[in-house]
Amino acid sequence: MTTRFTIPRPYDLHVHWRDDDRTALAVPHTVAQCAGAVVMPNLVPPVRTVADVDAYLSRLSPYLTEGFAPMMTLYLTDDTTVEDIAAAAAHPRVVGCKLYPAGATTNSHAGVTDLQALRPVLEAMAERGMVLLAHGEVLAGPGVDIFEKEARWVETQLTWLTQTVPELKISCEHMTSAVMAEFVGSAGPNVGGSVTPQHLLYDRNDLLEGGIKPHLYCLPILKKHTDRAALWRLVKDQHPRVWAGTDSAPHTRGRKECACGCAGCYSAYDMVSLYAEAFDRELGLGASAVQANFREFVAVRGAEFYGMEVSAETLTVVAEPQVVPSHYDLAGGDTVVPLCAGETLGWSVVSE
Ligand code: DOR
Ligand code: ZN
Repeated sequence: MTTRFTIPRPYDLHVHWRDDDRTALAVPHTVAQCAGAVVMPNLVPPVRTVADVDAYLSRLSPYLTEGFAPMMTLYLTDDTTVEDIAAAAAHPRVVGCKLYPAGATTNSHAGVTDLQALRPVLEAMAERGMVLLAHGEVLAGPGVDIFEKEARWVETQLTWLTQTVPELKISCEHMTSAVMAEFVGSAGPNVGGSVTPQHLLYDRNDLLEGGIKPHLYCLPILKKHTDRAALWRLVKDQHPRVWAGTDSAPHTRGRKECACGCAGCYSAYDMVSLYAEAFDRELGLGASAVQANFREFVAVRGAEFYGMEVSAETLTVVAEPQVVPSHYDLAGGDTVVPLCAGETLGWSVVSE
């Protein structure tokens, strides 16, 4: 049993920082722990062009530090052009484009209604080595159950994408289902995907059994224990293109604990300890082989897919229990309730 090990300072390869009083909470949390992050563009209005990227970066700048790399994404719409892609590829901070099927999740109404129609844009991305970050879900509706939205997207969209634009690098964001896990597990080197802490820790029983837990509600929604097991098989087998990306999404308590609550879990406050808790429960993090896998999953595999340098700075992960705060205060008066609020995590991070 080794109770202390180091990892490179990780990247959070999928984070929501917003553009209001939640930004002042979320960005410092990510910056405190990470070497960089891939920042989501689903603001209102969305980050659609390099001009929007530059404007957002300048609003973020008070919270950023010199050594930290904020990597940005463009929000794809039906109107995105090949010229938009050329400009994005030339921008030193833009790594890819986020695909939100229109209506699939928070602030996705300006998203893509017909992926096939965007083929020239997708080809332009592939030519320039840009990553397509996919929210892989079709819309729910008659014939499509909310728990099946990801599997239907794999069958109808991802299969088409990988056959039609095979050179395109695709990151399947926040993987949740066995169907997605199996597709990514057997796909070629241009396809990988991120996994959130909540999808490693929980299944839909945790969300719904004994009462609805609004702070476990996110999209794609938590699935069955067999789906969670399929994600763990990829992680345990050390799949080279499966990595950590939190999908940390700060929503106020008021917007979560209400009759129609928002989707999203806030995990940026300490992503490493949350993933450590998940690894410890599932695999036992005291074993040095598990620690080595943890290091690669949290800090190496995703960076390699994106072509980012693995950080030379390190964090130390220690088997010291910590109690997660019940909430974080926002300047506007509301609060954000973090994932695992009030619970004890078995591991902590110290910078040495
Ligand atoms: O739970 C989620 N929250 N899933 C998403 O896809 C978006 C995110 C958000 O922005 O709140
Ligand atoms: Zn997200």
